[in-house]
Amino acid sequence: MSAPLILGLESSCDETAVALVAENGEVLVNAVASQVDLHARFGGVVPEVASRRHLEAFLPLIESAFAEAGVGWDRVESIAVTSAPGLIGCLLVGVETAKALAWRRGLPLRAVHHLQAHLHAPFLTPAPRDGRPGAPAAHLLIADGEERRALPARGAATEADPSVVVARPGFPHVGLIVSGGHTSLALVEAPGRCRTLATTRDDAVGEAYDKVARVLGVGFPGGPVIDRMAAEGDPSRFEFTPPMDRRDERDFSFSGLKSAVARKVEELRRATPSAPGADAAPLDERTLRDLCAGFQSAAIRSLLRKSLDAAREAGVRDLLVVGGVAANRGLRRAAAEAAPRGLRLWFPNFSLCTDNAAMIAGLAWHVAPLSSEAALGLEPRPTLALEAPAA
Ligand code: KG4
Ligand code: ZN
Repeated sequence: MSAPLILGLESSCDETAVALVAENGEVLVNAVASQVDLHARFGGVVPEVASRRHLEAFLPLIESAFAEAGVGWDRVESIAVTSAPGLIGCLLVGVETAKALAWRRGLPLRAVHHLQAHLHAPFLTPAPRDGRPGAPAAHLLIADGEERRALPARGAATEADPSVVVARPGFPHVGLIVSGGHTSLALVEAPGRCRTLATTRDDAVGEAYDKVARVLGVGFPGGPVIDRMAAEGDPSRFEFTPPMDRRDERDFSFSGLKSAVARKVEELRRATPSAPGADAAPLDERTLRDLCAGFQSAAIRSLLRKSLDAAREAGVRDLLVVGGVAANRGLRRAAAEAAPRGLRLWFPNFSLCTDNAAMIAGLAWHVAPLSSEAALGLEPRPTLALEAPAA
């Protein structure tokens, strides 16, 4: 196969990521250098530390991505980079790296909106040589109460595995973006063309997961840890009210829920006997798990109720759940139970939920390349409306 490829670069937060993607959405390589260990001891991403690590990580990661895909620069038709939104110093490293490479190689540059790219994840598919490290596997499709594995393109990978259906979401559809920095519902009309239906009034849901994990002292990033602990907990022991639960409240809010968990932790700690003069006693493992389950259950109820309402009101057949929190197993399970007949629910493969460059290169095929003058002048932006162009 010698189809042209887009080289995608992503560095908006704490993952340095590089991918090579063909026009039909086939991902040849999806390489991610995570900085989780670097930031864990701070309990959150430290922007300065993150941008410095991006700077060190990019060039070796690009080299290893080419080696892994077994292709050279001659296959690359353009370079795509996340230009907004994100941590400004982190974005800057990606944008400047992409500009330098595009100039040096004489290639066009495409600027990509990070959130629009998350929405594109369920349209990607592994290249036919599935099984090689880095290639994403099938997405989760929930239709009429049944869970299927779905791939959007026909290829050797699907023919070899009869349990996989070949299907892709239709347009328009509703997309729920749930990540560390954003929580929004969008009506998506075409790749990269969307309109905001609802957004969070305060914290993003992933941010709430990370903050609750910090209050509980269970680790960073909080999402995967709480997901695991909640699965073994009892959600009925501590019942938290799902935020903004009135039917006419479309927007999300997670800061009140996070504070309610923190208050409950305080109350439990005060009630737990500790040695005189010692710090408050730590909560026992079962209580921690039950708190995780209670928090997660309220967060999921809010996410699902609002998303299902939005899909019904928009009259669409497909609802996509994307971003880091889409990896949540509790959310996937609850969605399978709550989805009404006739609605198809899509969750990207785990490797395409959290930040990655495959979604950047994949969406870039639908984004016009910049003129060489605009390419050299491209500047990252820390905030950008969901519907705005990335450059
Ligand atoms: O999309 P992402 O990688 O980065 C942003 O664009 O923000 O999302 C990261 C967020 C973090 O807050 C992390 O705690 C959360 O996604 N996350 C999860 C899970 N895996 C990652 N949240 C809930 N359950 C998970 N399994
Ligand atoms: Zn993201």
